[in-house]
Amino acid sequence: MEHEDLLDDVLKLAAAAGCDLECVPDIAATRSSWATATAVILDASTAAQCAQAALPRRDAVFLVSTDPAPRTLWERAVEIGAERVLELPGAEPWLVNALADATDAPALTTGRAVAVLGGRGGAGASVFAAALGLTAIRTGQHALLIDCDPLGGGLDLVLGAELEQGLRWPDMQLRAGRVAASSLHEALPTRTRGNARLTLLSGARQGASPAPDAVAAVLEAGRRAGETVICDLPRTLGPSAQAALTRADLTVVVVPARYGRAPRPVSSPITWPSWVSPPNSSSAAPPLAASPRPRSPEPPGSPSSPPCAPNPTSPKPSTAATSRPAPKALSPKPPAPPSPHWPPTPPAPSDPNEPRHDRPDQA
Ligand SMILES: Nc1ncnc2c1ncn2[C@@H]1O[C@H](COP(=O)(O)OP(=O)(O)OP(=O)(O)O)[C@@H](O)[C@H]1O
Ligand SMILES: [Mg+2]
Repeated sequence: MEHEDLLDDVLKLAAAAGCDLECVPDIAATRSSWATATAVILDASTAAQCAQAALPRRDAVFLVSTDPAPRTLWERAVEIGAERVLELPGAEPWLVNALADATDAPALTTGRAVAVLGGRGGAGASVFAAALGLTAIRTGQHALLIDCDPLGGGLDLVLGAELEQGLRWPDMQLRAGRVAASSLHEALPTRTRGNARLTLLSGARQGASPAPDAVAAVLEAGRRAGETVICDLPRTLGPSAQAALTRADLTVVVVPARYGRAPRPVSSPITWPSWVSPPNSSSAAPPLAASPRPRSPEPPGSPSSPPCAPNPTSPKPSTAATSRPAPKALSPKPPAPPSPHWPPTPPAPSDPNEPRHDRPDQA
C-alpha cells in the first residue's frame, strides 16, 4: 500500500485482529507472495499495478479506500478479481473480522460454552469451574477458562497460577468486535498437556472488571477456535456475567450439599498441576503452591490443611445439571462434630445484594 493514512488504518485494524501484516515494497515483491499470502490488501495505486502486471486471480483480495471509493477503484476490483472494495472507516469492523478469520485456523468443530454460577455465596462455583478446565485438558480438549466475577479474588488463585506470566482482565484492552483466539493463547497464561491446552483469563486483585463486550469477544473467540469455554460467574449477575450467560450452551448452578453432617477439612490445594507443562517445555513444571484464601481457624484437634481441594470423603457440591440423591454410603455414618467450614444446619437464605462474607468457611 502506498497511501500512508490508509496504511496506518489497516495496520491498526490488523493489530486489533491479532494479525501480522507484511508490507511489500513493490510489485516484484507482491508477485512473489501473491499466491502464498492468506489475504491481500491493496489501495488504488497498488491495485492498478497488480492489474497491469496481470497477476493471477486469487481469493481474499481486498481493496481499501477512503469513503467514497472512486469509480476507478471499482474498475480495478473487477480487473483483478478482488473480493471486496472496503470504504474506510465504515468497513473497519468487517475488515477486522476478515483479518481475524484469516489469522485463526478454522476449527473442525465449534466449541461449547459452559457458564458456572453458585446458588449462594461460597457454594464452590469457582472451584468447579477450575476443575472443569483441568478435566477438559486431561481428556485432551482445549479449554478457555474465563473469570467473570468482578468481586472475586481471581481464578488464578484457585488454580495456584497467580505467579504465571500473562495478562489478566485489567490488562486487556478489548473493545466490541472480535479477538483472535491465537492472540489470547499468546497473551494469557496458558499450559498444555499433550496436545491439549488450557488458557486462563483471570481477574486480578485490583483493577477494572471486564466489560460485557469484552467477555463476549473472548468467549466467542474460544468457541470459534473449537475450545471448551468455561465461564465462572458471580452470584449477582451484572452485565458482564449476563453477556456470558446468554451465550452459554450449558449453565451449571452449584449448590452446597446438605447431608446432615459437615465435610471433613480439605487435604491439599488444587494447583496448576505438575503434569501440565508450560508451552515449549519438554519437562513437567513443578506445581506452584496455591495461595490459600483467608479462612477462619481450624477447630481444635483438626489437622491443619490448605483450602480448595475436595476431600474424597466429603460431600461434594451438587449441581443443577447433575443433581442426584444423597449417596447411600453417607447414611450409616454418625454425624461429624460441628465444623466452622461447612455448617450442617442450612443457613438462612441469603440476600443476593448482601456483602460477600457468607462463605461457609466464614459462617
Ligand atoms: N467440593 C468441595 N468440597 C469442599 N470444599 C469445597 C468444595 N468446593 C469448594 N470448596 C470450598 O468452598 C469455598 C468456596 O469455594 P468457591 O470459591 O469455589 O465458591 P464460589 O461459589 O465460587 O464462591 P463465591 O460466591 O465467592 O464466588 C472454598 O474455600 C473452597 O475451598
Ligand atoms: Mg466464585
